[in-house]
Amino acid sequence: GRRITVRDIAAAKERGERWPMVTAYDAMTARVFDEAGIPVLLVGDSAAMVVYGYDSTLPVSVDDLMPLTAAVVRGSSRALVVADLPFGSYQASPQQALETAVRFMKEAGAHAVKLEGGRRVLPQVEALVSAGIPVMAHLGLTPQSVNAFGGYRVQGRGQSGDELMADAKDLEAAGAFSVVLECVPADLAERVTTSLSIPTIGIGAGPSTDAQVLVWQDLMGLTERPAKFVKKYSNLAEEMDRAVRAFADEVSGGAFPAPEHSYH
Ligand code: KIV
Ligand code: NA
Repeated sequence: GRRITVRDIAAAKERGERWPMVTAYDAMTARVFDEAGIPVLLVGDSAAMVVYGYDSTLPVSVDDLMPLTAAVVRGSSRALVVADLPFGSYQASPQQALETAVRFMKEAGAHAVKLEGGRRVLPQVEALVSAGIPVMAHLGLTPQSVNAFGGYRVQGRGQSGDELMADAKDLEAAGAFSVVLECVPADLAERVTTSLSIPTIGIGAGPSTDAQVLVWQDLMGLTERPAKFVKKYSNLAEEMDRAVRAFADEVSGGAFPAPEHSYH
């Protein structure tokens, strides 16, 4: 089978189909999600936290994310792989955005890129779209702006909801193929979703967006203090703790390896 494309994503909205997106940062998880039929995999700059152990997305670099992106592309065969452009790799100019996006496409094999922001990044979105690079936009709680927001808090309440709506419409007009809405009131996300012809992808944005995205470690129960918008579909932290303790016990007690694990 062939890869999902941005045209398939557009067609899904026309048919009123809802779809899931998850993050991935390595080949093996990418393969699991790909084989489960997840149509879009995001190599998020959330790797800053869940892979590299930083406490925000700001420190992660293009060089940090490039090999993860390449691994997710190699590990998947059907999903559209979106590379998140990290903080500082696109804000300076459309030229900088284009150079960064081209690296993700050429060197890592990404099929699309994502960047954060509204009207202030329109020149960047236009430059990428002109170059044939599909762009996923990201509005609401854009974590690369955490210092400007003064923390991780819901965005788009009251008047700023109109600003967000205007940003979304301008991003669509600039050629973005989709837009992530993070931590915004559900009624605002619903209004944006019905106002746009490109799909909205919600995270903490209520039930009305066209798609939903979660960081895989959050949905699997690996994250220590997940946000309110996270639903845990597994208890991986507990399961891994149990398993590694069992291994440790069997090593110290001599039960592992047994004869069937040994070469004779
Ligand atoms: O980096 C990330 O994981 C993201 C998603 C949460 C949308 O940007
Ligand atoms: Na991100």
